[in-house]
Amino acid sequence: MCDTNLMTLNRWLLSDHHKNTPNRIEFANLMSGIALACKITTNAIKRAGFEQLFGLAGVTNVHSEDVKKLDIIANDAFKYALKGTKEVFCMVSEEEQSIIPVAEHDAGNFVVTFDPLDGSSNIDCNVSVGSIFAIWPKVSKDNNYSDKDVLRKGREMIAAGYALYGSATMLVLTTGCGVFGFTLDYTVGEFVLTHPDIKIKPRGAIYSINEGNSVYWDKATADYVNSIKSGKNGKTPYSSRYIGSMVSDVHRTLLYGGIFMYPADSKSPQGKLRYLYEVAPLSLLMEQAGGKSTNGQQACLDLVPGNIHQRVPVFMGSVDDVSDLESFHKSS
Ligand code: AHG
Ligand code: MN
Ligand code: MN
Ligand code: MN
Repeated sequence: MCDTNLMTLNRWLLSDHHKNTPNRIEFANLMSGIALACKITTNAIKRAGFEQLFGLAGVTNVHSEDVKKLDIIANDAFKYALKGTKEVFCMVSEEEQSIIPVAEHDAGNFVVTFDPLDGSSNIDCNVSVGSIFAIWPKVSKDNNYSDKDVLRKGREMIAAGYALYGSATMLVLTTGCGVFGFTLDYTVGEFVLTHPDIKIKPRGAIYSINEGNSVYWDKATADYVNSIKSGKNGKTPYSSRYIGSMVSDVHRTLLYGGIFMYPADSKSPQGKLRYLYEVAPLSLLMEQAGGKSTNGQQACLDLVPGNIHQRVPVFMGSVDDVSDLESFHKSS
C-alpha cells in the first residue's frame, strides 16, 4: 500500500501542532540540518564495515576519551549540516574543547549543543548508539557569542531530541508540547511520524545502572539499588538492563518505564554524563513524557553548568521510581 500522505518531520514541524511557534519556519529549517546530520551518521555506521570506519581515530578528546573514527565523522556531519542551515549562532559539541563560532554572514538565532555520537564505545560491536541535541535561543545581542549563550539552566531549552541508530533509525524530539518519535523511511529518505505523544508510565520494573561501579557508590545509591533488587515489602525484584549507550538506555526507559542512573561516586565525583548535550536534553524529553530527572537533590533542568563540559549525576525515568530514589538521597 503506498502512503501518499506521509507525516514527515518537516510537515509535522510546519503543522498546526506548532501554529503558535513564532519562528517555526526557521526552526523547521534548523531541524532539517539536524535530520541531515543524523542521516549521514546512520549511513556511515551502516557502511563502516565496508569502508574501514570502525576503530580509533588515534586522538583523545577533552574528556581524555579515545576518539573513534565515527565520533569524528558524526561531529563533522553535525557541524557542516548545522552551519549550512544559516540558523545557528554558535554550537557546543562533546568532541570540541570550546564553543564553536559561526561566521557572521552564516549566523542565525539558535544555539545548538550536541553529542554527535553517544555510546561510541559500543560502535565496533554493532550495539545501538545515538546522537543527542539541544536547541536554545541565543542570548547575545551582538554577533559575539559568550558563556551566557551556553552556560544556562536546562529549562531555557526550546527543543531537545536524539537519534537512535538501532534496528530502526529513529529521531525522538520535543519542542515543548510532548514527545514525538519519527522513524527513518529509507525508501523516501524521510523521518516519518510513528510514535505520537510518547508518555512514560508512572512506575516501571527495570533499573539501568553500571553495576561494575557498585564498589564506588555512595550509601544512598547502594541502598536504593538493593531495595529494588531485594523485592522488599512483597514487591517483585526489578529486572536489570544496561546497554552502555545513554540514548539506548533512556529510549528503553521512556517506552518501557523504570529508572536510568549514572550517579556520582568515589571514582566520578560529578558523575560521568555531561550536562549540556546528554543530561539536559534527555531530561527535557523525560519531563515532557511525564517522567522525572534529578541529580538526587533537585531537578536536572534547574541546574546551571559551570563549564560547557560540566558533568552531573543523573537519575531519570518513571516518576514513582525516581521519587523513591530521591527519598534515599534526601534522607542521606
Ligand atoms: P559518549 O559515547 O558520547 O562519550 O557517551 C558515553 C556515555 C553514555 O552513552 C553511557 O550512558 C555511558 O557513557 C556509559 O558509561 P560506562 O561505560 O562508564 O557505564
Ligand atoms: Mn565520548
Ligand atoms: Mn554521550
Ligand atoms: Mn559522544
